[in-house]
Amino acid sequence: MKSFALRLVFWQKMYGRHGLPWQTREPYLVWLSEIMLQQTQVATVLDYYPRFVAAFPNVQALAAADEDEVMGLWQGLGYYSRARNLHKAAKQVVTEFAGKFPRSRIELQTLCGVGRSTAAAIAAFCFDARETILDGNVKRVLCRVLALDGHPTNKTFEQLLWRTAESLLPEDAADMPAYIQGLMDLGATVCKRSNPICATCPMSDICLARAQNRICELPRKKTTTTIKNLVLFWLIMRNAEGALFLHKRNAKGIWGGLWCVPCLDSLQQLYELAAEFGLSANELNEGAEISHRLTHRQLQILPFSALINAESSVNSLSIAGKWVLPENLADYGLPRPLHAYLSAAQGNLF
Ligand code: ADE
Repeated sequence: MKSFALRLVFWQKMYGRHGLPWQTREPYLVWLSEIMLQQTQVATVLDYYPRFVAAFPNVQALAAADEDEVMGLWQGLGYYSRARNLHKAAKQVVTEFAGKFPRSRIELQTLCGVGRSTAAAIAAFCFDARETILDGNVKRVLCRVLALDGHPTNKTFEQLLWRTAESLLPEDAADMPAYIQGLMDLGATVCKRSNPICATCPMSDICLARAQNRICELPRKKTTTTIKNLVLFWLIMRNAEGALFLHKRNAKGIWGGLWCVPCLDSLQQLYELAAEFGLSANELNEGAEISHRLTHRQLQILPFSALINAESSVNSLSIAGKWVLPENLADYGLPRPLHAYLSAAQGNLF
């Protein structure tokens, strides 16, 4: 279907999105935006991206940064492994590629956190490489235009989608940036999951799903993943100076790499840890429960706060952490619900 690419390139130039701050040929800026946009909406990224670029204007600055500063600027964007990988990849570019991003999709894919689709977007946007992307939006467009009937998460069907997407690339490499942007724009603004606007779609007269009246049915829906409920207990401790006890969470698991108050799985564990700080159960004030939704979990957080007095015995703690004054909290990446809780409490925690 030769006309697919030409239609898309023409449509993108006329009706696609233009003037986004990452629409440049500079690989550092493109890479950063693509990582942010992997699981985050454009509107949110428009808020974070300029601050991140101002703090780290190039890959050298990011590679040399302190991990906590990187996590702090990422705070609120979610999927924090992206931030840790971003930092690692910046170091890779500096040490393995002499500070210059590689130009090929294959080499770009060796960077931490950069999969095939992200590597293809960088190679196409910055170097006109004839490589295709294949994210959820593109899968939807292909399934509809070509009436491809399969589960998008099925590995064999996904391989078919990659091959199909490759076969549709424009012949002229100079068209690649507009083509890839067009794929993204069409999926995001016209060929939407619900209420697609077929009337303005450049593919409407070649769209097989439309001809077969199967737009609602394609792509096939993913089988829904079950949301697990998880109850967590927070131990929120302030010392006599007003500092808050924080510890850096393990890279694996929820809020990996962020700083958090001690977070326990049971009340029993909370009491045991409190005792290490010289706190008895009746010194703990139970706050209002916090509900917080993560992608595959519904969290129910029970916050317990306490004031630590100077004489409390803090000899051998089972948790490593530090006391952070309220004015320094901005330097630490905190989980979103903790940030919200502390902001709402505004120093009146105890
Ligand atoms: N989503 C992923 N990459 C994007 C880009 N470059 N522009 C807009 N949305 C995107």
